[in-house]
Amino acid sequence: MKVLIFDEAEQAVARVADLVADLVRRKPDAVLGLATGGTMVPLYERLVALHQEAGPSFAGVTSFNLDEYVGLAAEHPCSYHSYMRSVLFDRIDFDLARTHLPRGDSADPMREADRYEAAIAAAGGIDLQLLGIGQNGHIGFNEPTSSLASRTRIKTLTDDTRRANQRYFDSFEDTPRFALTMGVATILESRFCLLLATGRSKADAVAAMVEGPVAAACPASALQLHRNATVVLDRDAASSLRLTSYYQHVHPGGADSAFG
Ligand code: F6R
Repeated sequence: MKVLIFDEAEQAVARVADLVADLVRRKPDAVLGLATGGTMVPLYERLVALHQEAGPSFAGVTSFNLDEYVGLAAEHPCSYHSYMRSVLFDRIDFDLARTHLPRGDSADPMREADRYEAAIAAAGGIDLQLLGIGQNGHIGFNEPTSSLASRTRIKTLTDDTRRANQRYFDSFEDTPRFALTMGVATILESRFCLLLATGRSKADAVAAMVEGPVAAACPASALQLHRNATVVLDRDAASSLRLTSYYQHVHPGGADSAFG
């Protein structure tokens, strides 16, 4: 796992945006796995700015989002469909027909989960999967104790996750209880996993992910099993790591190196 630590969140965001943009320049028909949440908002802003400055074009990109709330139609203002359109898809030249999220309002969410897995496979798998991390160590909506072999399915959200996301809804009661999410194994099949975490509230989850045991209690720790995973952090999100001086020695100031 590469651990890149930057002093400021903006620098971490800029590095992740550059990695995404570089891939799309090299492979204009790349398949991107996308995430939502507060951490991704400045990242998508940066990608929009990069696109406007000098490309790349996203017109040939196919995308699959990690998750969607069960029960919310795409048009619902709090759906992840709506989030993606407002922060990214409608702001640059994405071809909406190539963008995919699980259908939260499907009459048969379990079949929808299987359909979604099949669609990812039919697209040839994911080249780059963007990830955030929950304060409880979730990736996607794979809450603690999710099987590390899990595929896309319905997960019951923890009350902590619902509280963290309550800000987007009228009340805690209105915050959905279930989500359709790619599984941990689905995520691990991506050819490159790129996780962005900023802020002190993520520090303990980041330490468990990078330096803790591989355990379903911290689903993000499964990234230790991935051959090509990069974790990009700001100083605050890195503040509970023990081996910081080693990460900074290998990747001074967040610089990449030929060796891991
Ligand atoms: C959302 C997702 C989640 C978030 C995580 C962090 O698609 O996959 O795992 O990345 O909950 O959310 P923020 O960035 O709001 O702290």
